[in-house]
Amino acid sequence: MEMEKLVSLCKRRGFLFQSSEIYGGLNGFWDYGPLGVELKRNIKEAWWRDMVTGHDDLAAPPGAPEAYEMVGLDCTIIMHPQVWKCSGHYDLFVDKMVDCKESKKRYRYDQVPGRWVESRGQKLFVTTSVEENQEADIEHRALKFLNLRAKDAADLTWQSPLISLAKIDPSDYGKVLGPDAKSLGTLTDPRDFNLMFKTIVGALGTEEDAAFLRPETAQGIFVNFKNVCDSTRVRVPFGIAQMGKSFRNEITPKNFTFRSREFEQMEIEFFCHPKSSPQWYQYWRDRRVKWYTDLWLASDRLRLREHDKEELSHYSCGTSDIEYAFPFLAAGEFGELEGIAHRGDFDLRSHMEGKLVARDGQLVVEQGPDGKPKWKGSGKDLSYRDDLTNERFIPHVIEPSAGADRGTLAFLCEAYCEDQAPDEKGEMQTRVVMKFHPRIAPVKAAVFPLVKKEGMPEVAQDIYRALKQRWHVFYDEKGAVGRRYRRQDEAGTPFCITVDGQSLQDKTVTIRDRDSLKQWRVKIDDVESELGQRLA
Ligand code: GAP
Repeated sequence: MEMEKLVSLCKRRGFLFQSSEIYGGLNGFWDYGPLGVELKRNIKEAWWRDMVTGHDDLAAPPGAPEAYEMVGLDCTIIMHPQVWKCSGHYDLFVDKMVDCKESKKRYRYDQVPGRWVESRGQKLFVTTSVEENQEADIEHRALKFLNLRAKDAADLTWQSPLISLAKIDPSDYGKVLGPDAKSLGTLTDPRDFNLMFKTIVGALGTEEDAAFLRPETAQGIFVNFKNVCDSTRVRVPFGIAQMGKSFRNEITPKNFTFRSREFEQMEIEFFCHPKSSPQWYQYWRDRRVKWYTDLWLASDRLRLREHDKEELSHYSCGTSDIEYAFPFLAAGEFGELEGIAHRGDFDLRSHMEGKLVARDGQLVVEQGPDGKPKWKGSGKDLSYRDDLTNERFIPHVIEPSAGADRGTLAFLCEAYCEDQAPDEKGEMQTRVVMKFHPRIAPVKAAVFPLVKKEGMPEVAQDIYRALKQRWHVFYDEKGAVGRRYRRQDEAGTPFCITVDGQSLQDKTVTIRDRDSLKQWRVKIDDVESELGQRLA
């Protein structure tokens, strides 16, 4: 599937719009249109239902070491600034960036691809800013810079495959042709750039009033751990779930909604005994993959990838990513949909004791120049006492952390299909159809009168109003019925119900299945139960 086709469908049919589009848009911000908002809400509701309200607290689900409880939380976006100091985000939530002195553009330095090339005694590293055909663009730029023609391409001796600028020693930056530069050596040395959005709380506007928009929902859960334990009767093992907006000032937002500056996360912090935490980590990896496949994200484009030792954060005992081969990525590449991390007791201890660092394989409180904790924790006791065994311990945490927008994008990519279907005259035409799982489909059914006369609209409207009590259904009487079917196929509506001449005589209607294109007749009185069964 070509990404351009999906992007154009999303705009044309109202799934996604660029934020503030009439003013030229704002890079990294996206709005969901009438169909998109339903799709994303259904995905979030499916997650909340499957992970929280529909979870059976009494029985161990398949693969789980024992039964566990799940509760939810909804925390503020702006929290006490100390939260981010103790969590490490204030010091460490950075990407490295380079600036181009010539083009005045800024790049995330690990996302500037290029190749070493040599020609006529000159060696240079030529980079590119394009997403597709990068090698061809690099060759074109190298020839242009060296004043060579296309027919001289054989004069170029390539010294490396496509590699990231991050692999180049900054002492070699004098030989780098920046992505939008005409001369060499225009890129600055890499510098840290903190991704947290800063804001000011209150009217005084001083630096002391600085606060941050949360870059993840997870910290709200950790700082409420004690509140949840004290106000409910949850016992370890249990999970706290939260979904909501997060903000990251990404240096290079790109690939549609994949890397945005404002996005939604769906996160669980699962608290368990340190001894059983490896089994819980396994459980959550499998449980979360199953959630996607149950909603039809089931092709070989989905995979679970365990991080190598070098990729793990200093506190993590294991992390896996659920990844999807998004169509905008090069063949064989996958993008992260969700991370499942075994975080040990890092987070609860950080908020008790202060910001932690690893020293000699141990987590210790980082000290400032005065020998005191660099960032002081809350000092509150966040340990847990098991009232049956009387054991007191700091629970370990397994964190399945998903992106609602990335998930929505993956479901959109997976659903997009083109097939052949007959038009009004029986001639085969290419049909664009979004094959969403009925649970997440924005509209569950459309109701049409075949023609806008002979009492058909009245019957169709009665059916529409009856179904509307339970589902998001759509009524349409405008234009040829074939065109109405096509519009619903593009919206991903699983069923179309049509009232025709026969309906007026025998009180039946046709139901058309979006994927198989099969049509069958059902009594009007049975439409609701038939739909109920098929949508279940
Ligand atoms: N609490 C852990 C955490 O936030 P993360 O891997 O940084 O981990 C979790 O983020 C998920 O949030 C990612 O797997 C992705 O789905 C989503 N996400 C992260 N940054 C994003 C961005 N800039 N745009 C859209 N989604 C993003």
